[in-house]
Amino acid sequence: MKPTILVTQQLPESVSAFLNAHCECRYWTPNDNSSIEEALKDVDGVMVSGMPVTEKTLSKADQLKVVSTISVGYNHLDLEAMKAKGVVGTHTPEVLDDTVADLVMALMLGTARRIAALDSYVKSGNWQPTDVETLFGLDVHHKKLGIIGMGRIGRKIVQRAKAGFDMSVVYHNRHRDEDAEKAWGIAYASMTALLSESDFVILMVPLTESTYGMMDAAAFKQMKKTAVFINASRGQTVDEAALFDAVNTGGIWGAGLDVFCHEPINTDSPLLKHPRILTVPHIGSATEETRTRMAMAAAESLVAVLSGKEAPYLIPEFKK
Ligand code: DGY
Repeated sequence: MKPTILVTQQLPESVSAFLNAHCECRYWTPNDNSSIEEALKDVDGVMVSGMPVTEKTLSKADQLKVVSTISVGYNHLDLEAMKAKGVVGTHTPEVLDDTVADLVMALMLGTARRIAALDSYVKSGNWQPTDVETLFGLDVHHKKLGIIGMGRIGRKIVQRAKAGFDMSVVYHNRHRDEDAEKAWGIAYASMTALLSESDFVILMVPLTESTYGMMDAAAFKQMKKTAVFINASRGQTVDEAALFDAVNTGGIWGAGLDVFCHEPINTDSPLLKHPRILTVPHIGSATEETRTRMAMAAAESLVAVLSGKEAPYLIPEFKK
């Protein structure tokens, strides 16, 4: 008998076909009449994306064996609650690394060269033949890049920054990686050194208790007035009021943000009103090719767990 799974996310056809071949699929969305707790009552697996999985979500999920999230980040999953229920989790690292790194470069370039603001400037008919300094931005090439959190995506950013833009790169990480330093020509820096010396500071850490709110007023104060801050990790790693204040008072030059404390961001947030703050709607991995790869990776991991095999992408906290 095939296992029964719950799908809470629209999937590409190829992924639905794969799942249908291995499982009985049920579908649920937040607009359904039944609650997620009821929907999870008698299923063996569930595919989610950003949907929180809490102790309450799992309260009736006595048959559940696996939660598979179509994302590399898994801060929306309560791992302890899952462990208490004997449920494992899988995620989708690797398949999105290049796509997220591309977006980070786009945020750096877009912020430094003021692409969104100047696009609006042209389209609203304000471009004057006499415009000179009003169109100026910052150079990206040959600048110093500081990456906080040097994982797989960080390495992809290094490749792009060094080979494409001749940038020098420093990084800060929980664990120093001397092999990576030699192989990639990058240098380890303390947080203070990274923040105070970098022209571009990129935050790429997972959201955990220790990274929550790590970019606060004190951190922004250490950055150069000419520096740009980029966040493509999770919104809650940043004190958004402190970030706005830093840009607004000239403490830093600008910011490019893919992620926010609340998504979608409240439309009256001051972050949306500042011309030096570039905002995009959490699109790090949002290309058709990459999202299809992520959904297939999540489906394969889910099916592997339900077939008693080793899942290709078990969340590290569930590895023995
Ligand atoms: C993820 O998958 O966790 C990333 O946020 C994608 O943008």
